[in-house]
Amino acid sequence: MRQIYPEPAVLTDRQLAARYRGPDRAGEASHWLRANMVASLDGAATVRGRSGGLSGEADRQVFAMLRALADVIVVGAGTARIEGYGPVRPGKEGVRWAWLRAGRPPAAPIAVITRRLDLDPAGPLLAAPPGLARPIVITTEAAPPGRREAVAGRADLIVAGRESVDIRAAVDALTGRGHRHILTEGGPYLLSQIIEAGLLDELCLTLSPLLAGPGAIAATIVFVREAGGEFGSYLALALAILTVHLFLFLCLRFSGLIIKVIKDSGILLLAKIAGLLLAAIAVQLIANSVRGFIAGA
Ligand SMILES: NC(=O)c1ccc[n+]([C@@H]2O[C@H](COP(=O)([O-])OP(=O)(O)OC[C@H]3O[C@@H](n4cnc5c(N)ncnc54)[C@H](OP(=O)(O)O)[C@@H]3O)[C@@H](O)[C@H]2O)c1
Repeated sequence: MRQIYPEPAVLTDRQLAARYRGPDRAGEASHWLRANMVASLDGAATVRGRSGGLSGEADRQVFAMLRALADVIVVGAGTARIEGYGPVRPGKEGVRWAWLRAGRPPAAPIAVITRRLDLDPAGPLLAAPPGLARPIVITTEAAPPGRREAVAGRADLIVAGRESVDIRAAVDALTGRGHRHILTEGGPYLLSQIIEAGLLDELCLTLSPLLAGPGAIAATIVFVREAGGEFGSYLALALAILTVHLFLFLCLRFSGLIIKVIKDSGILLLAKIAGLLLAAIAVQLIANSVRGFIAGA
């Protein structure tokens, strides 16, 4: 592992861990909440729906080391479902960092935040082999009682909030259980709430040298080409881009209000619709290219 700032150096594991141990106010404060995320240069959190494609070997080592430093690892249920979360396996990913766990259990438990409790009882998290850290599920009073019962047999259940998990109450509950070094691995929606609640102490963010966004630049290039050099078409395109920017600005500016109104279920629905639209645009572009290719052949 190479340090590039403040001065270039090759780091041993112990030197690397020392960099990530501080500043650590957990000694004085009740907890220390750190987030570990990766993003592409154009701000995407995933490639083809998952974050793995954004990370390199160095990121994977830091990921495992931060897990070893933590007392608990908190994720949103969306991430747990999509990334197939299971308990940390100290005999696999944790071997290199096992010395960081001295005096503590061999691995930090995974704590999943969820309202719907839509977690597969036979999945990797809840049906993990014995001997691994028992997962924690943090949910709401309004969570479906049947699912609550099913989960309670396989995980420690924390209820923090009525309709939504109150992030501050969840952090307090984890701290009350002795988990003072809290690591969150996202996703972006959970992280936004942690930041909004003023609870984030440290952000470890890898900027991956990739452009992986939803293709806004590519789409613009295609539309410019299709404008065919006509001034009117360029003007229409410029107006369309300005409208999209204005719309995005308003969405971001009033995001807090929008989230309150449409709630998690509305966000999930919008994300699915947006995914469908993007897929439809991609199919249209491919179909146009194939048609052009056949016509030109
Ligand atoms: N680039 C990175 O570093 C990184 C890191 C993590 C994840 N990811 C990617 O990000 C995507 C998932 O992220 P996301 O932002 O969509 O979802 P997320 O934050 O991981 O999870 C959202 C879900 O968490 C639960 N949740 C969150 N806050 C809640 C609250 N206050 N009360 C109750 N439940 C709450 C809800 O679960 P229920 O629906 O069960 O109620 C909600 O649907 C995945 O594609 C993953 O691969 C990227």
